[in-house]
This record gives sequence, structure tokens and C-alpha cells, in this order.
Amino acid sequence: MTNSIEVLKRHYFFSDDDAVRLRELLPLAEQYQQQMVDEFYEYIQSQPETAAILARQTTRERMNHFHRLWFLGLFQGIYDEAYLHHVRRIGHAHVRVGLPVNFVNAAMHQVRHFMHQLIHETFPDRDQRRDYRESVDKILDMNLSVMTSSYRDEEMKKVFVSRRLESGLIQLAERFTYGLNLVLVLALAGVSTGVVGLFVSDIMDSFKGDVEKGILSALGAMLILWMMIELLDNEIKNLKGGSFNILVFIGVIIVAMVREILISTLRHDDQKTQAFLTITLLVLGIVYFLVSKAQKAKE
Ligand code: HEM
Repeated sequence: MTNSIEVLKRHYFFSDDDAVRLRELLPLAEQYQQQMVDEFYEYIQSQPETAAILARQTTRERMNHFHRLWFLGLFQGIYDEAYLHHVRRIGHAHVRVGLPVNFVNAAMHQVRHFMHQLIHETFPDRDQRRDYRESVDKILDMNLSVMTSSYRDEEMKKVFVSRRLESGLIQLAERFTYGLNLVLVLALAGVSTGVVGLFVSDIMDSFKGDVEKGILSALGAMLILWMMIELLDNEIKNLKGGSFNILVFIGVIIVAMVREILISTLRHDDQKTQAFLTITLLVLGIVYFLVSKAQKAKE
């Protein structure tokens, strides 16, 4: 936020000569105020975003009145604390009506263009034109600086509130989540060890006589182990800041179902159970397909 008008003037090398020159331009500004207000309004109407704000927030008469006053205020030659306060109020009015800051910049560009054109057509002397142009640029830029800082003020307010939260709650929550993820990695490592045990036991079974059952069960355990590796890998990536991949989890369930179907076949389960498992696998396959399609569309 700009603290005082004197600081603002210093930032822009705005001198008493600039103030005098702007005052000299007042008759010209008065003469062309209607054209400026009309062009300003036309510009706002030409952009769908600003036209929508206008339709929602105010009337043409009010807008023209405000813009005319502001425009003539540029050339009064008095730029004091009251003037700074007035420009700040304009900035806050725009934040309030939800006008994106880039439209303030763009509208100011239109005003600048209008004034440059007017000066160019009015004053034949090159040096005089340059001096007027420079003074106009300074006052427009000072206005812009104050108006846009209103948006920054709003941002700062938001950051201030969340910063206090961040320092306590958010940091704590982040650490807690990180801790939980670590526990999850450890748990996954434990379960993976269990799956290795299962794989070994299935292999042993095949030596004990039931070769077919042993091999099929071992195959199922291997599939699960493979998915456990994927899960662990995914979780480690997550811990390192990567994104969570839901597909891996669906894959794990699919593999578990495949294993269950293999075992169910060996157990000679009734047809109902086998049909149930097959349909579940089919549904999971469809879910997997849809999720992976959605993920690809996002990339
Ligand atoms: C150079 C840029 C602009 C200047 C200097 C300017 C000037 C002003 C002024 C002086 C006010 C009155 C503030 C008050 O005292 O309450 C105002 C309000 C407003 N301005 Fe702007 N404006 C600019 C750009 C725009 C643009 C691009 C829009 C687009 C929609 C816009 C929409 C509004 C609206 C909706 C209000 C509130 C009107 C009301 O209260 O009825 N302004 N503006």
C-alpha cells in the first residue's frame, strides 16, 4: 500500500511542473469529457467479462458519472492526501464488484491512448506535446499503482489469515499425514514379507503332492507380490511429493480376485461362487478401464 501522496509522487518523479501542466490540460479535458466517457463505456461493453459486471452491478448513468468525475479529477492540479484517498476508494470499489485487475490495466490503457491522441491532435509543438504526454502518463500510472494495490491489499488479508493457520494447524496436519504415510509404507513392507511367505508355502505345497494346486496358488501369490511392489513404489513416490495413483489400488484388488478365482477353481467351489467371482472381476476390470481412461484424458 502507498502510504502517502508524497511518497507516491517521489516514486514517479511527479513534480510541481507536472501538476501545473495537468492543470493546463483541464480545458481540453472538459471539452472532450463526453467523448472520453462514451469511449470508456464502449470499451467496457465490448468485453463480455466487463459487460457482465456492468449489467450486474450498476447503470450506465452511474458509471458515466463516476468516470467523468475521475477523468476531470486528473486535471485539477491538486494531488494531496484527499486525492490519494479518493483513488484508493476507487480501487476498493473495483475489488468489491469483482472486477479482475487486468481490466483496470486495460481500461487505463484506453484512457492513455485517448489522451495521447488528443494531445497529438491539439498541440503542434513537439516539445510541448512530449511534456504533456509525460505528465499525463505519470498521473495515470500513479492512479493505476494505487488502484491495483487495492487488489494486493485483499490478497494480503487472505494470506494473513491462512498464514496464522499455517503456522499451527496446517503444519501439524501435514506432519501427521506424512507420519501416517510412513506407517503405511512400513505396513506395506510387512504385508509384502507375508506374501513372500505365502509364495514359499505354496511352492512347498506343490512338493507335498498336490502339484497343480501348489503351482496355481504360487502363481496367485506371485501376482499379489508384484502388485505389492507396485503399491510400495506408489506410496514411496507419494512420500516424495508425487501424486496418488488410485489405479494401483484397483490393480491390487483385481490381482487378489484373479488369485481367488484360481483357488476357487481348484477347490471346485459351486458355480454360484465362481460366477460371483467372475462378475466381480469383470466389474473391477471396467472400473480399471474407466479410471485409466479418465487419467489419460487429464494428462
Ligand atoms: C481506468 C480504469 C477505471 C477507473 C479510473 C474507474 C473509476 C471508477 C470510479 C471513480 C468509481 C466510483 C468509486 C466510488 O467512489 O465508489 C468506479 C466504480 C465502479 N467501476 Fe470503475 N473505473 C475503471 C475501470 C472500470 C472497469 C474496466 C469496469 C468494468 C466493469 C469498472 C466498473 C465499475 C463498477 C461496477 C463500479 C461500481 C459502480 C457503482 O457503485 O454503481 N470500472 N470506477
